[in-house]
Amino acid sequence: MQSRDNIILTGFMGTGKSAVGRRLAARLGRRFVDTDVLIEQEAKTSIANIFSQKGEPHFRALERATIKRICQEKAIVVATGGGTIVSEENATRLKESGTVICLTATPETIFERVRSNTDRPLLQGPEPLEKIRSLLAIRAEAYAKADMTIDTSTLDIDRVVETIISLVGKTQ
Ligand code: S3P
Repeated sequence: MQSRDNIILTGFMGTGKSAVGRRLAARLGRRFVDTDVLIEQEAKTSIANIFSQKGEPHFRALERATIKRICQEKAIVVATGGGTIVSEENATRLKESGTVICLTATPETIFERVRSNTDRPLLQGPEPLEKIRSLLAIRAEAYAKADMTIDTSTLDIDRVVETIISLVGKTQ
């Protein structure tokens, strides 16, 4: 039986998973793992390149392998990619390894946060706000698997970190 002491951040692109995860880990003195960064380091190229050269299914396979591996670790803080928890396999592993926290934000807030960014292949091309709305609707069920949800639309990173610490303290 695995101990459920990891803290895992899920949620859509632009909800603050990486920034919050890094600061949360520093606050708690825990190791921080950003699965997208891990995938890029191991593939020795960017996620945008993986998508354009090998396609999304290849990226999802790398993502599943990374999740399988990091879920063996204990007492870490993990920031996952926005689509990670859509996979049943990933969702099950993540939930078994710790407390899963979903960060959310309004579509408009997400759009403002990601609009100048070109390294998110799923939001490239015309009508990004519509893409955000549609993907949020498609993924709502997957994000609802999290143990708790925090809306980051009006919160700064420190407020989100403090909220997580107070919520997780009651469960771990
Ligand atoms: C994705 C989100 C990205 C990255 C990839 C796919 C998604 O991570 O994993 O571009 O499917 O939502 P962030 O949520 O950290 O931007």
